[in-house]
Amino acid sequence: MKQPIRLGVNVDHVATLRQARGTTYPDVLAAARLALEAGADSITVHLREDRRHIQDHDVASLVAEGDIAVNLEMAVTDEMQGIAERLRPRDVCFVPERREELTTEGGLDVAGDRERVTAAVARLAAAGIRVALFVDPEPAQMAASAAAGAAAVEIHTGAYADAADAAAREAQRRRIASAAVRARELGLEVHAGHGLHADNVAPIAAMEEIVELNIGHALVARAVFVGLGAAVAEMRSAMSAARD
Ligand code: PXP
Repeated sequence: MKQPIRLGVNVDHVATLRQARGTTYPDVLAAARLALEAGADSITVHLREDRRHIQDHDVASLVAEGDIAVNLEMAVTDEMQGIAERLRPRDVCFVPERREELTTEGGLDVAGDRERVTAAVARLAAAGIRVALFVDPEPAQMAASAAAGAAAVEIHTGAYADAADAAAREAQRRRIASAAVRARELGLEVHAGHGLHADNVAPIAAMEEIVELNIGHALVARAVFVGLGAAVAEMRSAMSAARD
């Protein structure tokens, strides 16, 4: 029997839906609770510099619950590090961020930005936060992440998820597998995520070195289909009851 693997549910797109209308629903905290009840181990949120989905108060209220393992994704900026020091999520995952991107497009270049990343890792570690670095499945990035003092790497699975055909996907799977082995050898905890869904998760979840997956977009997208029928039925019955 292999070690169990943890699931971190990213609820960013629950907030996307709320921000699209400027409403107070759907409630991010309620979504987090539902995810945890359904088997999630932790809740991941990305506080983007442009605040397009998750807001500062979402992070504060998740952390204030006390019993939720919060993984806060953020850019390597002074502002974000200050927020993490103040709010104290259990984990922080540093990610690269460009304002115009639709989602996190590539891994953090730890190897090319050693000083800044090392200082950021040390700053948050001093606040008692466990720090992961979101990196592409490259041996140089694994080595640089270990040298930077990170507790974990999160391997970017986007190229695997977006591969055009089975051969390209297999090549990406192998890249991830060997990066995961390398990271483990270096003493890093290994996480992975981005673009994973029910049909492509198995080959990644089967890798023993990987102990945590963070998944968001596909779960919220799937929730529309497993939940829309119930939501319509509820509305139908509220309308019909008003006519009785
Ligand atoms: N891990 C990291 C570091 C991310 O930035 C994201 C996207 O916010 C994810 C995992 C989840 O990706 P997806 O929403 O495609 O499942």
